[in-house]
Amino acid sequence: MYNRRTFMLGATAAAAALGLAACGGEGAGSGGPDTDAAPSDQTVGVAMPTQTYERWVADGNNIKAGLEEKGFTVDMQYAGDDIPTQQQQIDQMINSGVSALLIASIDGASLSSQLDAAAAVGIPVIAYDRLLTDNENVDFYVTFDNYTVGVNQANALLFGLGILDESFEPSGEAPEGPLNVELFAGSLDDNNAHLFWQGAIDTLQPYFDDGTLEVPSGQMEIDQAATQRWEQETAQKRMETLLTTHYNGGTELDGVLAPADPLSRGIINALQNRGMGPTIEEGLPIVTGQDAEIASIKLIADGVQHSTIFKDTRNLAEQAIISTESILNGEEPEANDTETYDNGVKVVPSYLLEVQMVLQSNYEELLVETEYYTEEQVESGQL
Ligand code: BGC
Repeated sequence: MYNRRTFMLGATAAAAALGLAACGGEGAGSGGPDTDAAPSDQTVGVAMPTQTYERWVADGNNIKAGLEEKGFTVDMQYAGDDIPTQQQQIDQMINSGVSALLIASIDGASLSSQLDAAAAVGIPVIAYDRLLTDNENVDFYVTFDNYTVGVNQANALLFGLGILDESFEPSGEAPEGPLNVELFAGSLDDNNAHLFWQGAIDTLQPYFDDGTLEVPSGQMEIDQAATQRWEQETAQKRMETLLTTHYNGGTELDGVLAPADPLSRGIINALQNRGMGPTIEEGLPIVTGQDAEIASIKLIADGVQHSTIFKDTRNLAEQAIISTESILNGEEPEANDTETYDNGVKVVPSYLLEVQMVLQSNYEELLVETEYYTEEQVESGQL
């Protein structure tokens, strides 16, 4: 059964010892909330991980525009996936006296000294999409239902393989097994990667157990499947190596669990370079995804990538802003989950948003009709 403790990133005694009591605004130095201040006198620091993934650019734009519309000043910085850069950026935000911090970390456990420094001057911290771990100075967390992302990825894979029908019930028409799949995970320093993996593995496990599915490489542990820093090239290279090592002599590959669209596209490149496909109809294995990036939506429309998971970043940004405003007004932000996200030192109160599975049959409804993308963008595969 799903056990939230599984997702705790080991609390270390050192981290616990480091956890200074949060000042909660009293005796604050230069920063932190001033409940009497007008938004125009308050700056919100927004630390973002990278611009390589489309979603973080959309998140950043939505947060900035939303906060500015409310009158706040925004200090937003992208760190190019470099941990020291992100640490410096946050240090600088603290020194400049921001009223609150919204942080999408690169490595969730790498910002302890920044979190302690923020708490020491009463600056509240909201973890954005990725949990900040091993530190008690995290006030709130806004994210999607990450475990369900993994469940949906696995269900999409099972559907694509013909094991489940479109209602995600056993189809009774599963092709003669075993079907061969390979598994990819995200970056191990991102707590989300563990939740995506766990949701997927819990869903796939019965099919491994009864022999419907097999992993010819035998690489079934998250450490073996991980993709450091979520880099596309790393996933493409691993797929190439898996193909040359385990798929000679007629072994066929039927599907790949891929945790994010750029990785899916790297994997698809590797498969096509080996002469598979180029479309699913022409024999390309079923590949999953996440984030509904425009290039992947085009591939889904074209019958190349099989699925992705849509996480509406407009809603996450809005939720982050609502939570920030509550904190700045001296109120407790509304949480809808106070159990799942144990960061190793404490359970961080969270607000989780829903996610949706995108297939060729519903991308119009989920993404075009909701004006996330235009039809032209889908056709060109570009924003
Ligand atoms: C996010 C995903 C994203 C991944 C890589 C995760 O923390 O939740 O949406 O694909 O990071 O950037």
